[in-house]
Amino acid sequence: MEKKNLVIVGGGSTYTLGIVMSLIAEKETLPLNKLVFYDTDAERQEKIAKATAVILKERYPELETFEYTTDKSKAFTDMDVAFLQIRTGGLKMREKDEQIPLKYGVVGQETCGPGGMAYGMRSIPDMIELIHDIRSYTDDAWILNYTNPAAIVAEALQREFPEDDRLLNICDMPIAIMKSYADMLGKDVWDLVPEYFGLNHFGWFTKIEDKDGTDYTEVIKEKIINEGFVPTDEEIANDESWKKTFAQARKMLMDFPEFLPNTYLQYYLYPEALAAKEVPDNTRARQVINGRQRRVHDQCDHIISTQSTEGIELTDDVHGVYMVKAAASLMYHMNEIYIVMVKNNGIISNIPHDAMVEVPAMLARSGPRPFSVGEVPTFYKGMMENQLAYEKLVVDAYFEKSYNKALQALTLNRTVTDVEKAKLILDDLIEENKGYWPELH
Ligand code: G6P
Ligand code: MN
Repeated sequence: MEKKNLVIVGGGSTYTLGIVMSLIAEKETLPLNKLVFYDTDAERQEKIAKATAVILKERYPELETFEYTTDKSKAFTDMDVAFLQIRTGGLKMREKDEQIPLKYGVVGQETCGPGGMAYGMRSIPDMIELIHDIRSYTDDAWILNYTNPAAIVAEALQREFPEDDRLLNICDMPIAIMKSYADMLGKDVWDLVPEYFGLNHFGWFTKIEDKDGTDYTEVIKEKIINEGFVPTDEEIANDESWKKTFAQARKMLMDFPEFLPNTYLQYYLYPEALAAKEVPDNTRARQVINGRQRRVHDQCDHIISTQSTEGIELTDDVHGVYMVKAAASLMYHMNEIYIVMVKNNGIISNIPHDAMVEVPAMLARSGPRPFSVGEVPTFYKGMMENQLAYEKLVVDAYFEKSYNKALQALTLNRTVTDVEKAKLILDDLIEENKGYWPELH
């Protein structure tokens, strides 16, 4: 197998060590010649990179080159594949996205509701610039994006780069959910085959089979109703917030037993209850700063000072392995099935053609080959079209610098709906996002 060169954009992320461990675990699936980290924050990246150098020396000695840089030409020249995981404004702005809506009794979340809109308006310009930069060094590298809010980012990129057929948006939530299904069934997650439809962070599994074609959908539903639902991937299994989120699957399934819900639907189905239980000075961003970030940074410090990983618990995770395997399927034409974001073009026949939908697709050298979904029932179509209109209006607001489109977007969002509330939240978001958002008029 031909060895590949990979760049991770956002090398300083708290997820990077997990990706590195996943690259090691999957080195036979995707053998690398060169691994490069790129970040605009040199200091944040250096800590992760110096620890990575030790990890790679111990566990990936055959890797020829590992480098980290803030120089675009060094990062993007000769690359076969790029993983994009940037966070414009950092966790500091994530915290604001979560806190501002809560002031008005509205869900405060990274990708759902007003927080998602705020983050989207920050991500779009950086993502557009980044893709232009990457493309100025390489025409044919695969770009796998999982920068959030992925739905809004995907819509914006589709408008800015309509001809780019090597740009794929992908989210790990479906596979993290499937990992829990697999563990409930006593099966290997990579042996499960999903049928799924929706928008990113807004979708439903309609069927789960194994590779022999045995249908486990009803068994999974019964188990969730009778035994509850828990995260099982190492990365999130012991996380209190993720445990609560996964537990909500049972409630959603009892209310709407037809399909198996994505965890993120909780914010749209029970917005009042979700907003009420949040504590403004301990939202998810704060928990990540004090939890995952501290843990990862402590691990790095220890690895760097001892120049060894001894005694440090490092594991691959389903998120990282998913990205690595998906990239391999694209580059080596493996035709495996992954849930990804693609332009609808009739896949879901009663949803607009130009929607960016999240569906299973075979990943081949020529790109994703999505499977037809057909018509979705009225409830799901209504939910999706409402959310889709919201997403499109956010991207319109960005490109047209339109205050009114932003207000329309927030008004449509199921977590808001009241125009007066939407105005108050929007005005606060504008104030806090000065320098990140375009000026709206
Ligand atoms: C899942 C989602 C990602 C999201 C992440 C947040 O993995 O698919 O889109 O960024 O959760 O997790 P955190 O632990 O940072 O709240
Ligand atoms: Mn996601």
